[in-house]
Amino acid sequence: MDSIIVTGGGALKGEIPIAGAKNACLTLMPATLLSDEPLTLTNAPRLSDIKTMTELLASLGAEVTSLQDGQVLALSSHDLDNHVADYDIVRKMRASILVLGPMLARHGHAVVSLPGGCAIGARPVDLHLKALEAMGAELELKEGYVHARAPGGLKGGVVDFPIVSVGATENALMAATLAKGTTVLKNAAREPEIVDLAVCLRRMGAQIEGEETGTITIQGVERLHGATHPVVTDRIELGTYMLAPAICGGEVECLGGRMDLVGAFAEKLHEAGIEVSETKRGLKVARKNGPIKAVDVITAPFPGFPTDLQAQMMALMCTAEGTSVLEERIFENRFMHAPELMRMGANIEVHGGTATVRGVDILKGAPVMATDLRASVSLILAGLAAEGETVVSRVYHLDRGYEHVVRKLEGIGAKIERVSGR
Ligand code: EPZ
Repeated sequence: MDSIIVTGGGALKGEIPIAGAKNACLTLMPATLLSDEPLTLTNAPRLSDIKTMTELLASLGAEVTSLQDGQVLALSSHDLDNHVADYDIVRKMRASILVLGPMLARHGHAVVSLPGGCAIGARPVDLHLKALEAMGAELELKEGYVHARAPGGLKGGVVDFPIVSVGATENALMAATLAKGTTVLKNAAREPEIVDLAVCLRRMGAQIEGEETGTITIQGVERLHGATHPVVTDRIELGTYMLAPAICGGEVECLGGRMDLVGAFAEKLHEAGIEVSETKRGLKVARKNGPIKAVDVITAPFPGFPTDLQAQMMALMCTAEGTSVLEERIFENRFMHAPELMRMGANIEVHGGTATVRGVDILKGAPVMATDLRASVSLILAGLAAEGETVVSRVYHLDRGYEHVVRKLEGIGAKIERVSGR
């Protein structure tokens, strides 16, 4: 297993290109199952999760061709010959459940393994299933698989989500595009990835309104045609790299960054004393001299503070002036980075979904272990600011969501290298 060694110290300066969004691409790819015509995705990120989704779609008989070093994905599901999404692939990546809605809508049946939990929580899929049942799907759970049928096709229905769910919204939105009649999704997720999916489906001929409002109305159509669609910029990668100059000092321009993707997060950086400004090419982040101010964070569905940036923000708060309280309200176990940061000298107390961080003068480099995707990158950020060397092990977690992280950070002056087998 590879490790990443970070030697802390020194302000960072330069520019970082931000890739297409993992969490948009993982729902745009299954959309190919809705049409027998080709779907081309540009600005696709080069990540192991994208490879896993490619493997899953290929197992169903779809064709996925990776072009231009993985930045373009040409997808076609003209000849689907298998309707079973196997546990061996699904257990590697929860987003696999997103083939259920499209496959059921187009073919009238689908068998998808339940994804099971993951490090950050149980992550059930009950809301995905309830939404499809509201559109007339007949579901049966057998030996860890969902057997879904819609013999006469799906019918429009009203889905009122009790809590906001990104994935359930995506599954329902895709399924509704081919359902007979009108579907209304209430208390739907409003993340930029949802908006991006709606724009792509509309390009394919779907009739969708309200994707930015929390209430989405879809008029089902007979069939969808092919399209070409650029994957939206990754707001979580963007926020992650905005934190590099915030933690170390310096000035970095994140190319492709957009303020509307990171509103609540950028406000918190501003509150902490970091300057964020829009440029012609993206977002510029600068930390002048002087301490960072401690700020409180509560994670919430978009447009609130993203749970996927909570771990990274905690790394910044470790050396802030004062005490910061971070409340994780989306997932039940998303503080696994805290004990690792404490190995570096951070002062953090975790009680249930609340972490209290008392700022210390400086963190000390140490061997630490990545536990999940976003925790792994928060340890790298902490290592950039720490005194001495930090060795982050199990960096395979990183490869799921961050392309070329060493190259991108080296590009702004970080002392970082990847070694195998440590
Ligand atoms: C998506 O996961 C993202 N993943 C996650 O990013 C992100 O953290 C999450 O949305 C929240 O923004 C992808 O898009 C591939 P949810 P998803 O359904 O759809 C509960 C990363 O680091 N829930 O919005 O699985 C659930 O347990 C990943 O890139 C149910 O109870 O998240 C959670 O507490 C991590 N029943 C809450 O809702 C359901 O049927 C929000 O989950 C579905 C969800």
